[in-house]
Amino acid sequence: MTKKKTILSGIQPSGRLHIGNYFGAMKQHIAMQEEGDAFYFLANYHSLTSIQNKEKLENNTRDVVLDYLALGLDPKKCTLFAQSDVPQTTELAWILGTLTPVSMMEKGVAYKDKVASGLSPNIGLFTYPILQAADILIYRSNIVPVGEDQKQNIEITRDLAGKLNRIYGEDLLTIPEEHIVKSVATVPGVDGRKMSKSYGNTINIFDEGKTLKKKVMSIETDSVPLDDPKDPETCNVFALIKLFADKETITNIAGKYKAGGYGYGHAKKELLGLIEEYFADARAKRKELEQNPGYVNDVLKEGGKKARDRAEQVMEPIRSATGLFRSY
Ligand code: ADP
Ligand code: TRP
Repeated sequence: MTKKKTILSGIQPSGRLHIGNYFGAMKQHIAMQEEGDAFYFLANYHSLTSIQNKEKLENNTRDVVLDYLALGLDPKKCTLFAQSDVPQTTELAWILGTLTPVSMMEKGVAYKDKVASGLSPNIGLFTYPILQAADILIYRSNIVPVGEDQKQNIEITRDLAGKLNRIYGEDLLTIPEEHIVKSVATVPGVDGRKMSKSYGNTINIFDEGKTLKKKVMSIETDSVPLDDPKDPETCNVFALIKLFADKETITNIAGKYKAGGYGYGHAKKELLGLIEEYFADARAKRKELEQNPGYVNDVLKEGGKKARDRAEQVMEPIRSATGLFRSY
């Protein structure tokens, strides 16, 4: 029997999750729990780089767990936990930091983007990729499903793992691979830029009613008149429709764009209906889960223990190989 691959990914609990997170990451996470030994965690240490407020961080963490469970993550099939339940992560991050050239962090695209968008340039933000590398390596992960924007961080992880192995022993860490689904690599936001919490251009997965309608209606389009034929491939509304609709519906709507007499308002209404239908079951499930707050705690407690036990098995030989003294 071949050994099951370890799949790992993390998501920052730094706000309500949006459909970019869903199609770029969560959907794959949920599908992949069937394919291997899957570990998914709430990257709350990482979130401290941008959220310094106890209530906010705690509430966001619960919200993300509820979102994931409602969308189909099953704690019987995967390990769902909080990063802060595995202190071995920060221990390994320190060791990796001693192997990281400053110049490697200076090339970090995400750091530059985040500072440009107004985040404080703290050391935690600067060394974020090192902690992310530790997250991945501490479970000897094989596959890391993420969005395109995380590619550089996975490359850094591979580099650091190789370096630690060369210096301290070839079998200490596993070199991971990223898993990126190309067709939905970047989901556009309502303004056409990459959908992101930090751009304020998101449609959230659990938005409903008026909020959802307002956001869909605000999607930016060009000003081709209603009667004229339109190019679906350059339209933000159509890019989103493609994520939610089946093949036949997509072909049908593309035909209407090209024929003319079909306005962006029509397309937005179709998109709204598609989003409502797509997430209807998850919405109902989330409302049910909200009634049982103890459940989230139980899931995190059990997941945390499993993750910690596994991390300790990887960390112990590294401590020993580096010559770190421990009296207990
Ligand atoms: P945000 O940009 O909103 O802060 P995060 O950086 O927390 O989102 O991303 C969480 C996960 O969702 C990552 O794996 C990321 O690659 C993916 N993701 C985020 N936004 C998008 C998007 N617009 N399209 C595709 N994937 C995305
Ligand atoms: N940086 C990731 C993001 O912003 C979150 C993350 C932290 C992560 N640690 C990770 C993703 C480890 C995959 C593996 O989305």
